[in-house]
Amino acid sequence: MDGLARLEYRGYDSAGVAVLDNGTLRTEKRAGKLANLRQALEDDPIGGEGAGIGHTRWATHGAPNDVNAHPHVDDDRRVAVVHNGIIENFSVLRQELEDQGCKFLSETDTEVTAHLLNKVLEERGDGDLSGAVRQACKRLEGAFTLVAVSVDDPGLVVAARRNSPLVVGRGQGENFLASDVAAFIAHTRDAVELGQDQVVELRSDSVTVTDYDGNPAEVNEYHVDWDASAAEKGGYDYFMLKEIVEQPRAVADTLLGRVTTDGALHLDEMRLTPEQLRTVEKIVIIACGTSYHAGLIAKYAIEHWCRVPCEVEVASEFRYRDPILDQQTLVIAISQSGESMDTLMAVRYAREQRAQVLAICNVNGSTIPREADGVLYTHAGPEVGVAATKTFLTQLAACYLIGLYLAQVRGLKYGDEINTLIGQLATMPEQVEQVLDTVDPVRKLAHSLADQSTVLFLGRHVGYPVALEGALKLKELAYMHAEAFAAGELKHGPIALIEEGLPVVVVVPSPEGRSVLHDKIVSNIQEVRARGARTIVIAEKGDEAVRPYSDVLIEIPAVPTLLQPIVSTIPMQVFACELALAKGNDVDQPRNLAKSVTVE
Ligand code: G6P
Repeated sequence: MDGLARLEYRGYDSAGVAVLDNGTLRTEKRAGKLANLRQALEDDPIGGEGAGIGHTRWATHGAPNDVNAHPHVDDDRRVAVVHNGIIENFSVLRQELEDQGCKFLSETDTEVTAHLLNKVLEERGDGDLSGAVRQACKRLEGAFTLVAVSVDDPGLVVAARRNSPLVVGRGQGENFLASDVAAFIAHTRDAVELGQDQVVELRSDSVTVTDYDGNPAEVNEYHVDWDASAAEKGGYDYFMLKEIVEQPRAVADTLLGRVTTDGALHLDEMRLTPEQLRTVEKIVIIACGTSYHAGLIAKYAIEHWCRVPCEVEVASEFRYRDPILDQQTLVIAISQSGESMDTLMAVRYAREQRAQVLAICNVNGSTIPREADGVLYTHAGPEVGVAATKTFLTQLAACYLIGLYLAQVRGLKYGDEINTLIGQLATMPEQVEQVLDTVDPVRKLAHSLADQSTVLFLGRHVGYPVALEGALKLKELAYMHAEAFAAGELKHGPIALIEEGLPVVVVVPSPEGRSVLHDKIVSNIQEVRARGARTIVIAEKGDEAVRPYSDVLIEIPAVPTLLQPIVSTIPMQVFACELALAKGNDVDQPRNLAKSVTVE
């Protein structure tokens, strides 16, 4: 149950367990959060002598109710399975199995695997669960991590992996299997990565990995460099609150050893040589959700610093539109988990088209960095809150590092600016700390807006993606209608939404040199205010031009314009988090979401 609790961020609409007890399979499943299952097991405990499996679900096929929760069993209750991913040919298999007399209880794609395994075991007649899993997997299409136990061999767990993540934890006289090391980190930090299309047989004293034909497979063993305390709340009521506060450390750790205040960059670890980077003619950034917003910001920085055309696209759209890629294209895949299926599929597509792929990722050994040509890890530590915070800031830091490095290896158009910026990037952890020290008024503001139904966000230049991120956070956490617009687009339609008292959050670029950009956004603030909006303005400390038009002014430290998102995002995170808390929402596990979405 504790292991499941650590995985709950991946899905929390229902949960279940199966244990082997004296030759019988015992299961318990409950809709809703894990607490419901925990209660059910306290009221009516089940014990087991052999292996056990458990699952927390993020529904794809079938509503999140008790019946659709995993594990699923066959008619004879011989095997129990849990599954992540989608079995795409499940309806054909279901029909076939129903024709053979199988009775289905749930609407899930997973249940076919339980019936299929039982049929294969019957045919084989040898009770060999590993053999049966290998055989059954050959019939499955789609993405899956499948974990099975059977009454034939109570000390054995067999799992198969295709696309969805799966990792083994090696203990002393005990072994573990999970989608994420967090599940077993309290017991062991020695892990084994499983590769694509591998099957693992797990017993308390052995771990055997093969391919689908039963041939021994090569695996990568590694030691996890964080411990259980890093994945605990540490005195905070919510992980999200803790993770927001951890941001100075997270950004510092991501820059550590890679950038120094005297302007040196060290990124040899990326596995892409300066020669390779010099051949790049176009950059395409692919990502989902918050990581996509990091990509949008990176485009501004990379195009300005490196003069290389840079496109940004949501990963789920990328491979379906026949994008133009070749060996001179560098694809940067941003994914904190390294497991988002949309991004993974886009990475595979890009590699098939012979583009070079560089991953930015927070999880060591996850699938996307393993399949990419190169990787730059962010060092945010484990992020448990479903809404990304510290991983976003560290993704920005990584994007800036890559942009500045590219500019350096390719020859500098803005040589002096680049060298100064490298030094300024190194000071960002202090600036982040400063924002956190002064963010309290945002909490009060958020609580005063809890009754609003809509909030609009405006930005220009890098402030625009920050506005998008602010709106996404509010949707995810506070379930509010939140929209972000490029401030210049306002007059082309969205301004019709402005009415008396509507909160409008505006991200203001640095007034340094009284830039045209700054003047324009000051006009935009006046335009919405003149129509009754209540303006909440995030601006650089000392920016007096915005003060007269700001109903609420949130000041952030002065940093170079392109780096501003690292500081301007923080008030947005705090705003959304506090507003959600004021509404009584669970900010760590917002409704309908999952942190790592391993289906397309
Ligand atoms: C999910 C999460 C988002 C996240 C997105 C991309 O949808 O709820 O918060 O931004 O996945 O995740 P990734 O792990 O690829 O960065």
